[in-house]
Amino acid sequence: MLIPIILSGGAGTRLWPASRQAFPKPFMSLGGSPLLQQAIERGMACGTEEVMIVTNQDYLYLTKTLLKDMPDQPHASYLLEPKGRNTAPAIALAALACEATYGKDAVMLVLPADHLIPDTESFVTNVLEAKRHALQGQLVTFGISPTTPDTGFGYIEVEKTARTAQKALRFVEKPDLVTAQEYLATGRYYWNSGMFCFTAGTILDAFRAHSPEVLEAAQTTMSHANTTGEVTKFEAHDFNIQPDISIDYAVMERANNVTLVPAKFGWSDVGSWPAVANANTSDTNGNTFLADVVSVDTHDTHVQIESHTAKVVATIGLENLVIVDTPDALLVAHKNAAQKVKNIVDALKTRK
Ligand code: GDD
Ligand code: MG
Repeated sequence: MLIPIILSGGAGTRLWPASRQAFPKPFMSLGGSPLLQQAIERGMACGTEEVMIVTNQDYLYLTKTLLKDMPDQPHASYLLEPKGRNTAPAIALAALACEATYGKDAVMLVLPADHLIPDTESFVTNVLEAKRHALQGQLVTFGISPTTPDTGFGYIEVEKTARTAQKALRFVEKPDLVTAQEYLATGRYYWNSGMFCFTAGTILDAFRAHSPEVLEAAQTTMSHANTTGEVTKFEAHDFNIQPDISIDYAVMERANNVTLVPAKFGWSDVGSWPAVANANTSDTNGNTFLADVVSVDTHDTHVQIESHTAKVVATIGLENLVIVDTPDALLVAHKNAAQKVKNIVDALKTRK
C-alpha cells in the first residue's frame, strides 16, 4: 500500500504578493493547474486513489473546493493543524494516522504541495524504485543534481554520484554559502528535493531514535484528536506542545539508514519569482507575460496580473524585472534581487 502524504500547511511567502497566508503557494496555478492539484495527481499516478492531506485548518475549504473540480477524484483524508509547526510534527502525525489505518508497513510518499515536476512518467519510475528501498527499512530521499550553491536546500553527500539508488553518507540541511560552494565543487552532493518515501513503521522508529520529543508530542496530540468522517482535527492547546522543527533537522540529518534515489525528472520548488518565470513559456524577447501586455523594448521581464478588473499593461524599456499585481498589492522588483521579497514581507509584518 502506497499513500501519498501531501504537505500543504506552509505559508510560503517567497512569492509575495501572489502567495501569502490567506492564499499560499500550493493554490497558485503554474503550468496549467494549481500546484496542489498537480501534487495529488502525481501521487495518484503512482497507483493509488488514497491521499492524506496535512494542512492548516484554514485551508480546508480552499482544498476541498479544489479537489471537487479535479477530473480524477482522489479518496482524500485530511489532518487539520490549528497552526503550522513545521514538517516534522506534520509527518509524525501522518505516520501515526497511516499506521492506525493501514498498518506499519504502509509506504508513505511525502510530497510537498508546491513543487513543479513536468515529467510524471519518470517520477513514477523513481517512486517505485524508492518504494522497494522503503520496504527494506530505508528512509528514502529523492536527490536533485545541484546547479547553483543555493542555501535554501538540504544537501546530501554520496560516495560518487550515480544513476541508481545509493546510501546517503551525510545530510546537511541549508548550509551557508561557502559550505554549499565547497559541496558543489566536490561533485558528490545532491540537493534534497524535500520529497521522501518510507514506511510508517520506519519513520516512527526514526522519530523514536532521533527526536523522541516530536513523537511524544504527536502521540499526545493524536490521542485527543477529533475525527469526523475523513477529517481529523487537532486541539489548538495540544498543538502548542509540538516542537517547531523540520523533518530535515529532526530526522534526516541524524539518521544513518538514508537512501538517495537520484531524480530522473526535472524539478523546481518554484521558490522565487525568477523560478516562476522559468516555469512559464517565454516569448522571443525572453518575457513571460501572464497578462494582457503591450510592450516596447522589454526583455526578460515577468508580468503577472491577478486583479479582478481586466487591464492592459504597457511596458517600455524594461529589462530583467518582475511585476506582479494583485487586488491589494503590487510588486516591482529586479530579478537579481527578487529573493529579497522576504524582506518586504518582514517589513509589512512590522507595519501598524
Ligand atoms: N502541513 C504542514 N504543516 N505542511 C508544512 C508545514 C506545516 O507546519 N511547514 C511546511 N509545510 C509544507 C510546505 O507547504 C511545503 O509544501 C513543504 O512542507 C516543505 O516546507 P518548506 O517550508 O517549503 O521547506 P523548505 O523549502 O524550506 O525546505 C525543504 O524543501 C527543500 C526543497 O524544496 C527541505 O526539505 C530542504 O531540505 C529541501 O531542499
Ligand atoms: Mg519549499
